[in-house]
Amino acid sequence: MHPSTHFTHAICRTPPASAVRGLRAVDTGAPDIALLRADHEAYVAALRATGARVEVLAPAEDFPDSLFVEDTALCLPQGAVILTPGAPSRRGEAELMAPVLERFYGEVTPLPRGHVEGGDVLVTGREILAGLSARTDRAGVLALAEIVSGWGYTLRAAETPPDVLHFKTACSLLAPETLLATRQLAATGCLAGYEVLEVPAGEEAAANAIRFNDAVILPAGFPRTAEMLDKAGYTVAEIGNEQAAKLDGGMSCLSLRFSPPAG
Ligand code: GLY
Repeated sequence: MHPSTHFTHAICRTPPASAVRGLRAVDTGAPDIALLRADHEAYVAALRATGARVEVLAPAEDFPDSLFVEDTALCLPQGAVILTPGAPSRRGEAELMAPVLERFYGEVTPLPRGHVEGGDVLVTGREILAGLSARTDRAGVLALAEIVSGWGYTLRAAETPPDVLHFKTACSLLAPETLLATRQLAATGCLAGYEVLEVPAGEEAAANAIRFNDAVILPAGFPRTAEMLDKAGYTVAEIGNEQAAKLDGGMSCLSLRFSPPAG
């Protein structure tokens, strides 16, 4: 069991009713809050089914995107970094998360400068990849690199493809040296040296999955990706994501996954 794929804990946050006003690149209509919450409950159940302890925080109505807790922090076994989201409307979400993570870590490290959203940070078995994006800037990535180097990690900057919200919108870790990725991201070369399973054409949104303990949590509706992962030996749990997708959200965005020092 590797710390990049196996976790004792996760934190999620119940979608607020205000999620109807969440950020989105293209407006395809507001999410249905009842359906969004039902999908969220199924997601939490899938995480718990792996044996992890999952804390579900109360909705934060002042922050329409606050269900996407991943963007607020980077959690590693050695410590947690409270990030500064690039989206101004989301910065208060990180402040809300700090005291929650302090309960697990004792103290947390704030990002001292720049902007990073957790959706742009992929921890693999050998390094941390940070995608520069509209939400994550070079100053933030350099500051994050300094912090995690003190914990023994190498952080490498990459480019998030244009018109893609976050780096992990286009890829996810399946095993310490194996990724699921869109052809567009794989073609940039930033994943060279890893085994890469490319999502079939037309199923690009399936690239935002998570490996969580013995399961791969995959958005529902991508049968060829599910079949590919099944054939590769992964245990796949499919979770509805139609409503969160209206806010450009996916499987990784909905949780912070970690094993705290005392966990
Ligand atoms: N709606 C999620 C985000 O744009 O951050």
